[in-house]
Amino acid sequence: MPDISFSERTSAQRVAERLDKHAAGPLQAFMVPFIEHLHKLIRETRPSQADWRRAMEFLTDVGHASDGRRQEWVLLSDLLGVTALVEEINTNRPKGATPNTVRGPFYRADAPRLPLDANISLDGVGPVLSVSGHVRDLDGKPVAGATVETWQANSEGFYENQQPDQQPEFNLRGIFTTDGQGCFRYKTVRPGGYAVPSDGPVGQMLGGLGFAMRRPAHLHFLIKAAGFETISTHVYDGSDPHLGQDALFGVKDELIGEFKPTGKGDASTLDFTFTMVRAKKGRGTP
Ligand code: BEZ
Ligand code: FE
Repeated sequence: MPDISFSERTSAQRVAERLDKHAAGPLQAFMVPFIEHLHKLIRETRPSQADWRRAMEFLTDVGHASDGRRQEWVLLSDLLGVTALVEEINTNRPKGATPNTVRGPFYRADAPRLPLDANISLDGVGPVLSVSGHVRDLDGKPVAGATVETWQANSEGFYENQQPDQQPEFNLRGIFTTDGQGCFRYKTVRPGGYAVPSDGPVGQMLGGLGFAMRRPAHLHFLIKAAGFETISTHVYDGSDPHLGQDALFGVKDELIGEFKPTGKGDASTLDFTFTMVRAKKGRGTP
């Protein structure tokens, strides 16, 4: 008879033994430490049966709040910093390179290709922002012909695909190609910051615990060029009061942009340099 004792001391081992020892692969490699950490958490926090039932009810609610339009599980991962940690582990770049951040749920792959200097604000609502970008490699050489996709919220903090009845389709989105000097330029409106959804089980639970729910104003960029790692990142408005409290832990010094007033009304400019890293063999591009 094998040892079947199940106690605080042996519980993790008893469960881990149920895994097929001959099975290999990433799931097997993940499950052993997962079981050990989960049992350690329970030993340390010692929930009552009622506490654990409440935890199960919360996870059930998270599942019920998730569907094709809303992903409450992803929000849980985002607010607990797990999405940002996975990004950090997988795209840790050398000093001087533009870091990646989470792409988020508002990206659309079917945005229009536009000529340089186009205006991506199709409704013209909000303070004008003129963006000029430079794409370089780590030696400072321009990356010509790079594809630059951008998307952003409007000045009230809403993406076009969140307000299909109020904003024109593809508002504040566009795909540009860098010129021979690795530059791109376009006109837009200054984005507003926004709060992540707090009406679901995750927002209610973590908001109730004092978690930050605001995202500082930002522009999204997805930059691809042959032979380079793809950059998927944000550029943040350096004057946003919530810069130090991004709900999703995306703000890094290298990603803070200076939105400079032009002196003409409320218009401003942003000039930002993106630095790409040569792709390593076998390293995926997100
Ligand atoms: C965003 O587009 O800002 C975003 C990214 C990740 C999760 C939620 C929103
Ligand atoms: Fe965003």
